[in-house]
Amino acid sequence: MEVIVQRDYAQMSKVAAQIVAELLNTKPNAVLGMATGSTPLGLYQELVRLHEKEQLDFSRVTTFNLDEYVGLPGNHPQSYHYFMHEHFFRHVNIPAHNINIPSGTTSNYPAFCEWYEKRITECGGIDLQILGIGTDGHIGFNEPTSSLSSRTRLKTLSKQTIDDNARFFERREDVPVYAITMGVGTILEARQLILVASGKTKAKAIAQAVEGPVTSMVTASALQLHRDAVVIVDEEAAARLTMRDYYEFIYAAKPAAPRS
Ligand code: F6R
Repeated sequence: MEVIVQRDYAQMSKVAAQIVAELLNTKPNAVLGMATGSTPLGLYQELVRLHEKEQLDFSRVTTFNLDEYVGLPGNHPQSYHYFMHEHFFRHVNIPAHNINIPSGTTSNYPAFCEWYEKRITECGGIDLQILGIGTDGHIGFNEPTSSLSSRTRLKTLSKQTIDDNARFFERREDVPVYAITMGVGTILEARQLILVASGKTKAKAIAQAVEGPVTSMVTASALQLHRDAVVIVDEEAAARLTMRDYYEFIYAAKPAAPRS
C-alpha cells in the first residue's frame, strides 16, 4: 500500500485527481469506480477543472458507483444519484448510458445486485476505484463485520454511520437504515484503488486501516491485500500514523510522483 500525506484537503484532492487523469490519458475508455460523501468533492471539482481547462476527456469512460441508499429515488437531494449528477456528471462528458449507480428503489434487490456485478464484469472490470472511509473504517457501506469476500448486496448501516450521515438530512430519523453497496470482494477486484481521507475524525480509522491488522471490523484494512492501493490523506487524517516519515521518504524519492 502506498500512503501519500498532503498538507491539506485541496492538495489531497489534487493528487487524487492527478492519478485519475493519468489513467484517462493512458486509457481513455477506462472504467472508474465512484464514491460519494463529502471527501471526494474536491477530487471531482479538480476533475471538472481538468475537463474544462485542460480538455480531460470522459467521452469513453464508464462509471460504477459504490453504493446508494435504499428507499431514496434518484431525484431525492440526498440520494447518491442526485449527488453524482450535481457534483460531477453534469459537468463532464460521460455518456449517460455509461453511468451505473446502484438502484435505491428496485423491486428486487438480490436480482439487481447480481445484475450490477455482471454488468461490471461485462464492462471489463473496474480499472480504478475511488474510495472514502467511514469513521468506523467502512469502505462503500461495508460496515464492521462485513465479509472481506462480500459482493454487491443490501447492507444495514451501523449506528455510527447513521449518526455521521445525519448531518446531510433534516432529522436523524430520515437517514435510511439500509443501503445497497458493492462488497469488499467486489472492491478488491478493481485494478487500482485510491482512498482519500481528510480531517481529524478520520485519523483513527486511517491508522487502523493502514497500520492495523486486516480485519472485517475495519473493512478498509482489506486494502492491505490489494497490490495497487494508494491512500491519500491530509495532515489531520494522518495524525495517528506511526510510519509517516517512511511514507514521506518513499514519496519524496519517487521520480514520477504526481505533484502540483
Ligand atoms: C460513499 C461511501 C462511503 C463514504 C464514507 C465517508 O459512496 O462509499 O464509504 O466514502 O462514508 O464519507 P464522507 O466522505 O462523507 O466522510
